[in-house]
Amino acid sequence: MDRPLERRTATRTAVVWEACRQRLEAGGGAQTVLDIGGGTGGFAVRVAELGHRVLVIDPSPDALAALDRRARERGVADLVTGVQGDLAGVIDLVPLGTADLVLCHGVLGLVDDPVDALAVIGRLLRPGGALSLLVSQRHAAVLGRAMAGHFTQARELLDGLGDDHEHRFTADEVRGLLAESGYAVAEMHAVRVFSDLVPSALLDLEPGAVDGLLELERAVADRPEYLTLAAQIHAVATR
Ligand SMILES: C[S@@+](CC[C@H](N)C(=O)[O-])C[C@H]1O[C@@H](n2cnc3c(N)ncnc32)[C@H](O)[C@@H]1O
Repeated sequence: MDRPLERRTATRTAVVWEACRQRLEAGGGAQTVLDIGGGTGGFAVRVAELGHRVLVIDPSPDALAALDRRARERGVADLVTGVQGDLAGVIDLVPLGTADLVLCHGVLGLVDDPVDALAVIGRLLRPGGALSLLVSQRHAAVLGRAMAGHFTQARELLDGLGDDHEHRFTADEVRGLLAESGYAVAEMHAVRVFSDLVPSALLDLEPGAVDGLLELERAVADRPEYLTLAAQIHAVATR
């Protein structure tokens, strides 16, 4: 991982990636992974590189074309399938009870009824399978707006109003939604606590800064007090 952009991206994705990789390793052997809203396949292709089969469902034809290119470039096209569709229609695209792991990263905040969406995903999981859920966390957005001087926006976001393109959740809301949809939370992680706040020039210029930041992100990921500061919350849940 030598390129600066990849190293910076790693500070944002490492905690989620490591949790998913461990879950796949614990399953033993090649598994069936469903990536809902998997976009251009940043995660899906890495999962396939570990030898697992991945089905990506995404409404964007452009994203699916990029996914296809990425999978071919990395030599895993035989393990990655992209299908155009969305979370609402996923039940018609995937056989019930067959997924070992469902990734739902950055998508739950885009749907009208998150409880219903989570319940649908639950029907796709095989017994003992797991959901990897990644959502934006509301209070980090409040802080971000306030630090940029957008105090009215920050005040609205504080009460869960004024969400722009996606809905953001608190840690308690994530726990509540998962419980209401019949899941047991196995793990909960604070993600991107510092990465979005540190100037990228510092990371590019300061020797060892990326590794130090990565280490810090890993150190706070399992500390519940940092969930309120995290740009994203990652939950691993089973039914
Ligand atoms: C924020 S991106 C996340 C991409 C990827 N999962 C990641 O974590 O990098 C959201 C993705 O969800 C897709 N999307 C938007 N609405 C969706 C829906 N209703 N169901 C499934 N995917 C959706 C978009 O096309 C986009 O690729």
